[in-house]
Amino acid sequence: MTDTVTQTSNTPALTKIVESYKKRTVESERLQSRAERTIPGGNSRQAGHWAPYPITIQRAEGVHIHDVDGNAYIDMTANYTSLVHGHGYAPIREAVLKQIEQGTAWSANNPAQLDLAEAIVGRVPGMDQIRFTNSGTEAGNLALMIARTITGRNKVLMSRYGYHGSLLEFEVGAFDLEGPATLVATYNDAASFEAVLSEHGDDIAAVFLEPVMGAGGVIEADRDFLKRVQVAANKAGALFVLDEVITFRLSEGGRQAQLGIEPDLTMLGKLIGGGFPVGAVGGKAEVLSIFDPSNLKAWHSGTFNANPVTMTAGTVAVTHLTQARIDRMAVLAGQIEDGIRKSAARHGIPFSINRCGSLLNIFFMETPPKATLLRADQEAISAFHIAAMNHGVFVAARGMMVLSTIMTEALVSEIVERLDLAIADVATLPIWQKSA
Ligand SMILES: Cc1ncc(COP(=O)(O)O)c(C=O)c1O
Repeated sequence: MTDTVTQTSNTPALTKIVESYKKRTVESERLQSRAERTIPGGNSRQAGHWAPYPITIQRAEGVHIHDVDGNAYIDMTANYTSLVHGHGYAPIREAVLKQIEQGTAWSANNPAQLDLAEAIVGRVPGMDQIRFTNSGTEAGNLALMIARTITGRNKVLMSRYGYHGSLLEFEVGAFDLEGPATLVATYNDAASFEAVLSEHGDDIAAVFLEPVMGAGGVIEADRDFLKRVQVAANKAGALFVLDEVITFRLSEGGRQAQLGIEPDLTMLGKLIGGGFPVGAVGGKAEVLSIFDPSNLKAWHSGTFNANPVTMTAGTVAVTHLTQARIDRMAVLAGQIEDGIRKSAARHGIPFSINRCGSLLNIFFMETPPKATLLRADQEAISAFHIAAMNHGVFVAARGMMVLSTIMTEALVSEIVERLDLAIADVATLPIWQKSA
């Protein structure tokens, strides 16, 4: 019988790593205590919280973030994929500063909105037209409004553990619950979607899917699954909505261009704002004709929708994201994948990794779980998250890492070396035991 390494739970495994983290982040701890007095939990963004407390960032430039204690980190989150050209990308900064001198918001159109709309619509196969919002969450809300208006139905069907933003309809599904307006089925299992659609199709306004699960752990959907769900959704009279908030970075035309899929609606966000708050929904002109002012069927408004600062930054971000740069990010991400796989093997602990282009998610398990909420390596990944910070690399608490276009081979080598030290820390924790 071969030796396997398994994890035990409830050990004081994190203590040494956490002590070192606490020594380095005294001011962050003080600010967290202060924040908790006026902001519940000390944050307005759950994903930015972790135990024992999160660091507070003072400033960022290029690939680095700097915390209030003076520690520097290589930022492998890029604000959860949104800063595809890193922090303070000079062409965006220059364009935005110029725009700010001309004003930041007004209650009428601006030309920058046209530039961004044309740049995106020109790339994404499923889009003739687009409308902007201030976040991916609002894009989900808008997509839902469109689908409900067109179908006269109320419910959504989504994948359990899928993530489409912080809207109650979607949050329940992200945690594998069902709500009054939410039905769930199993990712990459077309039959499970078809079954729900044949039973509840008359109530379902739209089916929402990520072509690669982001928060779920960088899990790729296969093309046949997406196609079958699209066909079943449309047969039931529901809209098929592809959430490309994260995956737009995977090719110039998003994941749908790679897979040859044209959804009824596409949600975008993150990178298309060039570092500023943004979301968008695009689709076929006939679907979006509900916003034709001469025959208005749905009211969509927002004080900061398509504001000129976001639109200016977004236009630079999108037009500078060429296929060559996308391909290069994927090559560098592959080098990180190889490097940390070798590191984990050297240190003799279970390890697996999901990678799609410039998106990665690591797991201290022999095979990746079906979703990050189902992971058995919580203690190890939490230890790694803190240990990586101790060694100067900032990764998402769930083990997600992403590339930006300004990363170089030299930086990738440095990342792999630093993460090797973090993996070494994880490997020496008393949570692993050998079993024959
Ligand atoms: C796939 C997906 N959809 C929607 C959203 C919501 O976007 P936002 O955080 O801008 O509201 C996210 C955010 O992480 C996401 O990953």
